[in-house]
Amino acid sequence: MKLSNIFRQEKDIAFEEIPIRDNFYQTSSFFPMPVTLISTLTDDGLTNLGSYSLCFPHIISGNHSMILISRGSSNTAQNILKRKVAAINFIPDRKKYMKNCVELGYPGDTTEEKMKKSIFNLVPSMREGNEKYPMIVSEAIQVFECRWDDSFNYKINESEYHFVLRIEKIVMQTYWKDALETGVEFPPLPVDYGFREGIHFWFSKFSAPYAVDVPSDRQVEASHIQFQANRIDPSIQWELEACEKLKKVPKIFLNKVLKGIVQEANNQKVTIITPAFLDSIKN
Ligand SMILES: Cc1cc2nc3c(=O)[nH]c(=O)nc-3n(C[C@H](O)[C@H](O)[C@H](O)COP(=O)(O)O)c2cc1C
Repeated sequence: MKLSNIFRQEKDIAFEEIPIRDNFYQTSSFFPMPVTLISTLTDDGLTNLGSYSLCFPHIISGNHSMILISRGSSNTAQNILKRKVAAINFIPDRKKYMKNCVELGYPGDTTEEKMKKSIFNLVPSMREGNEKYPMIVSEAIQVFECRWDDSFNYKINESEYHFVLRIEKIVMQTYWKDALETGVEFPPLPVDYGFREGIHFWFSKFSAPYAVDVPSDRQVEASHIQFQANRIDPSIQWELEACEKLKKVPKIFLNKVLKGIVQEANNQKVTIITPAFLDSIKN
């Protein structure tokens, strides 16, 4: 019988303390993480792909950034230190892709050696400008094209460099971009389960997410409006209190009203929509 079933039958569920070891996310716990391939540029201008799961949203308002934790000696870390540019490619859940991510995650290979083993196709960066950027993975569902912000302390120790990667561009396969707008279908993104017993990486298969209704209090209604409003023009952000004021606008007119307000904010070079701004344009 599975241990999880035994637990379910027991009346009292008992917690036990786990020793906190180095790499606690792999050794002292189960920890769900994304699976990304990070592309960076070598001295010779080649694109290097490295597998990385310790890659999470870090600054979510203002300087939108990811944090990446890497060994200091990895190709990825060395390339970021020298050229700053990187792209975070989110790979879909297919066993052959996960197997290749594990091969590309084997330390010590040079870029030439490892890229011979890669089954992924590379296409040019979507960033504009004359600078050279790492290529991106055409099989990826979405790609964050980033630049290292070296104003943050990055060196924890040799096995732990923390890179704050500012997001310059997000690109997504058209099919999934449409799904993002409608929110009814989700891309098959795998989860790296963290757990390491020494010989395997463990990935869990994608399964369709289920919806849970948000509580229908006043605050939530306003945050729904805020979600819709903030998507109209990313350079103009709405305060929740401003959205509170629009709760009485009938749903069918809401988008038109929001767009009108954003247009006015643009005209007046206002970047944050506050209740006071709404009052000022009322008349
Ligand atoms: C699924 C997976 C996730 C990984 N995540 C990380 C990580 O977050 N940080 C890290 O330092 N190494 C991680 N590794 C190990 C690196 O991939 C490995 O050090 C590899 O050599 C990095 O490639 P690079 O030297 O070309 O950068 C991971 C490996 C795999 C297979």
